[in-house]
Amino acid sequence: MDNEPIIILSSREIDKMRQAGQLAAQLLAHLEPMVKPGVSTLDINDAAEEWTRKHGAKSAPLGYHGFPKSICTSVNEVVCHGIPNAKQVLKEGDIINIDVTPMVDGYHGDTSKTFFVGEPSPLARKLVEVTEECMMRGIAEVKPGARIGDIGAAIQEYAEGQGFSVVRDFVGHGVGRIFHTAPQVPHYGTRGKGRKLRPGMVFTIEPMINEGTWEVEVLADKWTAVTKDRKLSAQFEHTIVVTPDGVEILTLSPELVAA
Ligand code: MF3
Ligand code: CO
Ligand code: CO
Repeated sequence: MDNEPIIILSSREIDKMRQAGQLAAQLLAHLEPMVKPGVSTLDINDAAEEWTRKHGAKSAPLGYHGFPKSICTSVNEVVCHGIPNAKQVLKEGDIINIDVTPMVDGYHGDTSKTFFVGEPSPLARKLVEVTEECMMRGIAEVKPGARIGDIGAAIQEYAEGQGFSVVRDFVGHGVGRIFHTAPQVPHYGTRGKGRKLRPGMVFTIEPMINEGTWEVEVLADKWTAVTKDRKLSAQFEHTIVVTPDGVEILTLSPELVAA
């Protein structure tokens, strides 16, 4: 996937991506108030599926390479691709990443956030705050002429400087009509290396940052990725487009776009 051509989207297609991205942001905002002790991850999935359909969109994860649910819900030591489950009930102090990808008119809006269930421990709060800052620092590197490696380098420097580690096994990705395509966007790397960014490229930046080791394991369900040491992991994700003078975040809700 990493020497495939990178698709450049037309302004009409970028507009479609903006619509999909805004719907994705609104979906996350709709789900956020559900994140409370006693709610199951399946409850959140079902609310997401219903809201997505009601808005004329489709849940891209459902059936994607056999994924069985509409969103990913990744709690505590789960790094990504957690499968919503009725038996998994949120409890005070948990952290949960909710990753949504509604598809609108064939275009994908891919975004995720990590939420606190009640009050987090100081360490959980720091991990989540550092992870969001990692995503924003990665996004801040994006402009025509910059390199994919600049993004990963900025993220890795900050994460490791704060005493955390960067997951290697999962990366950001080109997105558009295709859910996962070139380029691959590692959240670690070297400045000046990797493919050159050009206006109209659309991809995600979605760092997974761990409390302990960066190593992960995939459970027997073939999806759920957990930290090898079972310590905490957090993630944030936006879909962005390279613009002639920098970057636009496509997965911001209209209120945030207006602000
Ligand atoms: N939304 C995830 C990503 O950020 C992908 C989920 S694919 C699934 O790329 F099959 F696990 F749902
Ligand atoms: Co995602
Ligand atoms: Co993604």
